[in-house]
Amino acid sequence: MKETLQQDFFTIIQDRGAVKQFDSSVKMTQAEIAKLIEYASTAPSSWNLQHWKFLVIHDDEAKKKLLPIAYRQQQVIDASATIAVLGDFEANKNAEAVYGPAVAAGAMTEEVKERLLANIEQTYATVPHAPRDEAIRNASLAAMQLMLAAKAMGYDTCPMGGFDAQQLVSVFGIPQRYLPILLIAVGKAAQPARPSSRFPADQIIVWNQF
Ligand SMILES: Cc1cc2nc3c(=O)[nH]c(=O)nc-3n(C[C@H](O)[C@H](O)[C@H](O)COP(=O)(O)O)c2cc1C
Repeated sequence: MKETLQQDFFTIIQDRGAVKQFDSSVKMTQAEIAKLIEYASTAPSSWNLQHWKFLVIHDDEAKKKLLPIAYRQQQVIDASATIAVLGDFEANKNAEAVYGPAVAAGAMTEEVKERLLANIEQTYATVPHAPRDEAIRNASLAAMQLMLAAKAMGYDTCPMGGFDAQQLVSVFGIPQRYLPILLIAVGKAAQPARPSSRFPADQIIVWNQF
């Protein structure tokens, strides 16, 4: 882990690929997965509300329950774990827990905190789709960071949108507050990811205005 953490960032982003075949004999420990999620949670988020939760599907029984929900994609069995990244529709409720300690530590004034809380509540109450948009936007940032952190720790991932979100919610008892964003299988690759390509920069950049 220490040695791969020292890899160059650009090597990590270039080497990350959606791995489809995992070595089922490699089991990441709960401590490693917790560390991985800690790295993921250093992602930025709107107002630092940290609109994410991570459901870790790690034991064999839970993996078997996930298999049909993930349309029988074998990664969920062979990977060490599959992490369901969930977005929080009610991240505005985190505000007190985020700002309270900052005020207590003298890093923020009570007045600034109250202004931020009012701003957050106003947005969540009045901007159409804000709770959902914020949940998706911010949890997605953590999901991407999780994949890069896994690579840096010497593991591989497969992001998966191919799953039945309603079934996931009901089978795993996910509270209404959370929206499934992405499944991420994580473990040791048995086969490298298939090569993939990207559009050249000049096809995807618009300078200044459409
Ligand atoms: C939102 C999202 C959903 C995806 N869903 C699946 C999936 O259900 N199953 C799968 O094998 N790969 C899935 N992928 C992987 C993509 O096919 C893959 O990232 C893309 O082809 C580019 O390849 P690369 O990641 O290896 O560069 C998904 C990727 C993303 C970002």
